[in-house]
Amino acid sequence: MARPDTVIILAAGQGTRMKTGWAKVMAPLCGQPMIAWVVAQALALEPRRILVVVGYRGDEVAAAVANLDPQGRIVTVVQAEQKGTGHAVQCCLPELGPDPGRVVLLYGDMPLLRTESLELLCTEQAATHDGVALLTASPSDPRGFGRIVRAADGSVARIVEEKDASSGERTIREVNLGVYAFDGKFLVHALPRLEANNAQREYYVTDVVAQFARDGRKALPVELGDVSEAIGVNTLVHLAEARAALQRRILEGHMLAGVFIEDPATTYIAHGVKIGAGTHIAPCSVIDRGCVIGAGCRIGPFAHLGERTTLDDGAEIGNFTETKRAHLGKKSKAKHLAYIGDAELGERVNVGAGTVFANYDGKHKHTTRVADHSFLGCGTVLVAPCSVGAGATTGANAVVTRGTQVGAGELWVGVPAKSKGRKNAGSA
Ligand code: UD1
Ligand code: CA
Repeated sequence: MARPDTVIILAAGQGTRMKTGWAKVMAPLCGQPMIAWVVAQALALEPRRILVVVGYRGDEVAAAVANLDPQGRIVTVVQAEQKGTGHAVQCCLPELGPDPGRVVLLYGDMPLLRTESLELLCTEQAATHDGVALLTASPSDPRGFGRIVRAADGSVARIVEEKDASSGERTIREVNLGVYAFDGKFLVHALPRLEANNAQREYYVTDVVAQFARDGRKALPVELGDVSEAIGVNTLVHLAEARAALQRRILEGHMLAGVFIEDPATTYIAHGVKIGAGTHIAPCSVIDRGCVIGAGCRIGPFAHLGERTTLDDGAEIGNFTETKRAHLGKKSKAKHLAYIGDAELGERVNVGAGTVFANYDGKHKHTTRVADHSFLGCGTVLVAPCSVGAGATTGANAVVTRGTQVGAGELWVGVPAKSKGRKNAGSA
């Protein structure tokens, strides 16, 4: 693959069509902000550096991208006033210098592009030598995308925005995806020549493509077969479409690795979750960011594994149970109606229906430890911090108060729970 020297990501716009007030690129998408998906696209191309143009609520966006590259290739560039995509790239001129090599431009609102498509784009640009290659697609609904006006030889003559297009141009089905690989030297020559004489009074980066064509350079369209990659997020409706498509990719990855997902339509698994083979996920289950699930586990139906839940092999989380920052050892089970937050459970622990780990005292979160083979009776409340020793039992509706240490093998009952001493050997 012809690697780019620099990847520029445009992420300064507010996204007024979202009507949310967020910076659009911070929209949540399967466990990470949209911009993180786009930075991942850029990283896959292994450029020398990545320039992220930020503006509206730029501090948040800059913070979100700051730690995404362990090699520290990400640099943020500020576009104080949003005067269009061309203006945003102009803001990168001081960073680019006179000969920046191959430059790939991505928009922060196109989270579905695949690495293979971007690699193909770079290869095609390399073949033009000093030209530009850009991704296009022909979706059934062009919904606001710029249209590709082709020259007689099949190259791109120019791109016309929907708002500037004649009625004839609007019937063109081929659209601009806003993904370009430029000869950097001509890009930096063309950028200062942009004009804002269009319907939106903005500097369009798309006009740079027309400058390549006018200069007798190649402007090569690279048409994508898979239009599902072409979802651009301008509204919350588009965000839902993008989420569904990305979710499908995540689920397919797990299914192909041997995770039995009964009903993909009602299963939500965040980006980056790890799941072992042979685990069975029943319908209507949600698995948040940072969860690590072993092999042969059973989850759901109607389970919510909140952030940073770890299940060791064979653990089970059943109906209407929520976990959060919890670790369940091998074969531990919470099959019905429980909340397990900030908890460390050993192996083969049984969490009875209705058990609550009361982890929050109104100010701080505290941790509860429950050792191997213990049995929490239905309706037990464990007020954190507290601990339950190995093989101990709590009776139905026991309230284990803050700071209590239930001894190994003991039985505790009542409100507040009191020890009834050690159980007979073998009882559980
Ligand atoms: C743009 C393209 C259009 C293409 C479409 C594909 C232009 C002029 N139009 O239109 O041809 O079909 O994308 O997705 O480029 N941004 C900035 N600063 C600005 C303006 C925008 O950083 O001043 C960023 C936005 O945050 C966004 C991206 O650039 O991530 C695209 O901007 P947007 O307004 O969504 O462009 P479109 O109207 O979708
Ligand atoms: Ca857009």
